[in-house]
Amino acid sequence: MEMHNHWCSASLFLIISCFVGFLSFPADAAVKKNQFDVVKNVSRLCHSKPIVTVNGTFPGPTIYAREGNRVLINVTDYAQYNLSINWHGLKQYRNGWADGPAYITRCPIKTGHSHTYDFNVTGQRGTLWWHAHILWLRATVYGAIVIMPKEGTPFPFPQPYQETNIVLGEWWNSDVETIVNLVNKLGLPPQTSDAHTINGKPGPLFPCSEKHTFAMEVDSGKTYLLRIVNAALNDELFFAIAGHNMTVVEIDAVYAKPFTTQAILIAPGQTTNVLVKADQSPSRYFMAARPFMDAPIPVDNKTVTAILQYKGIPNTVPPTLPQLPAPNDTNFALSYTSKLKSLNTPQYPAQVPLPVDRHLFYTIGLGQNPCPTCQNGTKLTASLNNITFVMPKIGLLQAHYFNISGVFRADFPGRPPVPFNYTGAPLTANLGTSLGTRLMELGNLIPRKTRLNST
Ligand SMILES: *[C@@H]1O[C@H](CO)[C@@H](O)[C@H](O)[C@H]1NC(C)=O
Ligand SMILES: *[C@@H]1O[C@H](CO)[C@@H](O)[C@H](O)[C@H]1NC(C)=O
Ligand SMILES: *[C@@H]1O[C@H](CO)[C@@H](O)[C@H](O)[C@H]1NC(C)=O
Ligand SMILES: *[C@@H]1O[C@H](CO)[C@@H](O)[C@H](O)[C@H]1NC(C)=O
Ligand SMILES: *[C@@H]1O[C@H](CO)[C@@H](O)[C@H](O)[C@H]1NC(C)=O
Ligand SMILES: *[C@@H]1O[C@H](CO)[C@@H](O)[C@H](O)[C@H]1NC(C)=O
Ligand SMILES: *[C@@H]1O[C@H](CO)[C@@H](O)[C@H](O)[C@H]1NC(C)=O
Ligand SMILES: *[C@@H]1O[C@H](CO)[C@@H](O)[C@H](O)[C@H]1NC(C)=O
Ligand SMILES: *[C@@H]1O[C@H](CO)[C@@H](O)[C@H](O)[C@H]1NC(C)=O
Ligand SMILES: *[C@@H]1O[C@H](CO)[C@@H](O)[C@H](O)[C@H]1NC(C)=O
Ligand SMILES: *[C@@H]1O[C@H](CO)[C@@H](O)[C@H](O)[C@H]1NC(C)=O
Ligand SMILES: *[C@@H]1O[C@H](CO)[C@@H](O)[C@H](O)[C@H]1NC(C)=O
Repeated sequence: MEMHNHWCSASLFLIISCFVGFLSFPADAAVKKNQFDVVKNVSRLCHSKPIVTVNGTFPGPTIYAREGNRVLINVTDYAQYNLSINWHGLKQYRNGWADGPAYITRCPIKTGHSHTYDFNVTGQRGTLWWHAHILWLRATVYGAIVIMPKEGTPFPFPQPYQETNIVLGEWWNSDVETIVNLVNKLGLPPQTSDAHTINGKPGPLFPCSEKHTFAMEVDSGKTYLLRIVNAALNDELFFAIAGHNMTVVEIDAVYAKPFTTQAILIAPGQTTNVLVKADQSPSRYFMAARPFMDAPIPVDNKTVTAILQYKGIPNTVPPTLPQLPAPNDTNFALSYTSKLKSLNTPQYPAQVPLPVDRHLFYTIGLGQNPCPTCQNGTKLTASLNNITFVMPKIGLLQAHYFNISGVFRADFPGRPPVPFNYTGAPLTANLGTSLGTRLMELGNLIPRKTRLNST
């Protein structure tokens, strides 16, 4: 343990000073430097609370890049928490160091220190997003990543007139770290959020929120690209615009076979680009989002709204609400997800690897383990093949690279330890799981330092 802690500090050689800053320089552009503030009081739903933000904005700034760019982002941590940023969905080919989940690839950035993330955008274009990847800080530390196609390469769909980010989130009136600490200590499910948000704003259906409403102005007859991100922590969301259909053209930075729909379904972490044509009678229309939940689990079922407003229409015109699928509309969910297909053209092929070298079988489970501080003496615990992950004290990739033993075991099973009827009734007896930091080696993609040195 001593050694691990020492090692974690020693690894901070890249970490330099003290606020959150973005320095992004596309290979072919001038160096841009951005400076960020971190803690800021924000008021929503008649409550004010300090939140961690990037650059003082909520959501944080959008990162713009082009396919093929190199991006350097200098993050300086001004917050009271150690933190790391994950570039969600960005493929970090042989570059796991820049991926960002705390203690998986590396230790988080310590309060008062900096770290420069360095990555290339390879073979991806569309919308992704970034967020804090430690504790529940991503509740407020997040923003969009917009990746434009290579210079001179058009979209494989009609060029939109303009584009707008629609970043969906979840808002709690109380401090999110207090909530997650209670969850861990007492073993209770987390309190559901108090609102959903669009670009940080809950919209006029919530108290004290008239001024916290996102509005987008459109010109009649023009087509707009909406870059939709679900940055909520827990909720799968339906999203729709009153009177307007959407054409889905991209999912998670992969071009999709276009299809038209009245509503989309988007899971936490997912991104979806849609085209919307302003072809209805000029007025004001609500965009709205609300969760999909077809299990008897408490969920924040409140509806967030924003406004799509035709130019010249006064703010006094009351907007109409879209019809969202019912919260338990499983059929819509299944039908919608079955339409998500890669564009798969010669220019954008779906390169799925066909030969399979190894077959792995994972059961994702929810078990119950003893917990002395918990209200019932037990707490619910997630597991994979009955193993509940125990967060290490140093990054797993660091432990691998520097060949530090005792951090993880490389014996994660490729099958559940005890076969049972996976499609039958859930198990009810002995719901315990086994705790461990166990990994499965799939191949030597990241050489160890010793090996690297010897070449
Ligand atoms: C990152 O930003 C901090 C704070 O401004 C600065 O001290 C540090 O030199 C920067 N690091 C790099 C690599 O530019
Ligand atoms: C961050 O804020 C600084 C001003 O403090 C500004 O110059 C910069 O453009 C902002 N960065 C982004 C990515 O918006
Ligand atoms: C933020 O709000 C808290 C009370 O919730 C207050 O004590 C603090 O001074 C405020 N900070 C700023 C920077 O306004
Ligand atoms: C932040 O990281 C340092 C170095 O690993 C550690 O000593 C410290 O306890 C951490 N702080 C918190 C609040 O976790
Ligand atoms: C990014 O691409 C350049 C040019 O191919 C390469 O030299 C560099 O090592 C790459 N950087 C990362 C972090 O992969
Ligand atoms: C705790 O036990 C009570 C009474 O058996 C039960 O109603 C409740 O759901 C349990 N809570 C948890 C978190 O297991
Ligand atoms: C939206 O699509 C539905 C069928 O998918 C169609 O019935 C409806 O007329 C379309 N609405 C608009 C405004 O285009
Ligand atoms: C939302 O959830 C609350 C509390 O669980 C419930 O009382 C209410 O009926 C739900 N509303 C809708 C529209 O489902
Ligand atoms: C969905 O919820 C509604 C209202 O709560 C209920 O009447 C209906 O039976 C539910 N549908 C399904 C498929 O569970
Ligand atoms: C890694 O460390 C173990 C001892 O902990 C040693 O046996 C092994 O040779 C080392 N491997 C490499 C590649 O250095
Ligand atoms: C597993 O359970 C399902 C649902 O009860 C049942 O249809 C199926 O026959 C069971 N399979 C086996 C191998 O027992
Ligand atoms: C999971 O592991 C626990 C602890 O080792 C054990 O008691 C339990 O039987 C296992 N359950 C399954 C389904 O493998």
